[in-house]
Amino acid sequence: MTLEDSRAYFQFLANMGLTKHLGSMQATRELLDLCHIGREAGQVVLDVGCGVGATPVYLAKRYDVRVVAVDLLAGMVRQARARAKYAKEEKVAERIAFTAADARVLPFEDGVFDAVITESVNVFFDDKEQAIREYARVTKPGGYVGLTEMTWMTTPSSASAAYYKRTVYADTLEAKAWETLLKRAGLQEIVAHAHDVDMTEEGRGRLQRYGCRGFLRVLGNFFVMILKDRASRAFLGDVMTTIPKDIMKDMGYGIYVGRKSSA
Ligand SMILES: C[S@@+](CC[C@H](N)C(=O)[O-])C[C@H]1O[C@@H](n2cnc3c(N)ncnc32)[C@H](O)[C@@H]1O
Repeated sequence: MTLEDSRAYFQFLANMGLTKHLGSMQATRELLDLCHIGREAGQVVLDVGCGVGATPVYLAKRYDVRVVAVDLLAGMVRQARARAKYAKEEKVAERIAFTAADARVLPFEDGVFDAVITESVNVFFDDKEQAIREYARVTKPGGYVGLTEMTWMTTPSSASAAYYKRTVYADTLEAKAWETLLKRAGLQEIVAHAHDVDMTEEGRGRLQRYGCRGFLRVLGNFFVMILKDRASRAFLGDVMTTIPKDIMKDMGYGIYVGRKSSA
C-alpha cells in the first residue's frame, strides 16, 4: 500500500467538495484547545492536509491567528482558497496562506510555527513517525504538535482492519501506538484522549462545518458524480456493501498532542 493508492480516495473527496475527520467539530475544538491556540495573540498555526479548508477558515474566523494550510492535492488547495475567499467575515482570506505541499517534506524552515495540527492525515502514511518528526521540526521550541486520528478502541477484527486498508487505504492504530509515535518524534507532555464515535454528533458536526448551503452543494456534487462517473459508483458500491458488521464498535478517534522542548 502506498500513498499513490489513496490519491484516488482523496480525489473522490475533492470532487465532492467535502473532507472530514471522525469527531468533526468537537474534535477540532478539543485539538485546538489542547494545542493552546488562542491563548496568545498573533500565533502562527500550520494545518497539514487541510482538505477543502474548513479548519483553516474556522481558525481564522475564531482566533487572532495567522494560518498556513497545506495539502498534497492542488485541487484541495484550490477549494480551500475559494472557501476562505467567500467567508463572510472580513480579513479571513488575508490571514490564511494556502500552498500545495507534502506533509513528509514540508517546505518550511525549522521552528517557525506555534502549533502544527493535522486531522485524519497520518493514518494514510506508511512511515507515520517520519511525518510527525517533520511537524516537530517546523514547530517553535515550546510549541505544540496535535493530531486527530482514527483510532482502534479495541484490537480490531481482521475484517475491520482489512476493510479500511482496502477501501480508503487507512492504516489505523490503537491509542497507545499513536502516543508512542509522538514520543519517538521527541515530543513531551503528551496528552492522548480517545473517544467513541457518536453518529448524531458526526452529522451535526458536518452541518456546522459546511453550513446548510454548503452541505446541499456537497450532496449535489455527490449525486452528479454517482450518475456520471462509473469509477465513483464502483468505489461507493464497494465501500457500502462490504462494511463489516461491527466496524463502529472497533473504531473511534483520538486527539494526540505533544509539546516541543523549549530548550
Ligand atoms: C481525510 S482528508 C482530511 C482533510 C482535513 N484535514 C479535514 O479534516 O477535513 C485527508 C487529507 O490529507 C491530504 N493528504 C494526504 N496525504 C498527504 C500528504 N502526504 N501531504 C499533505 N496532505 C496530504 C489529502 O489530500 C486530504 O485532503
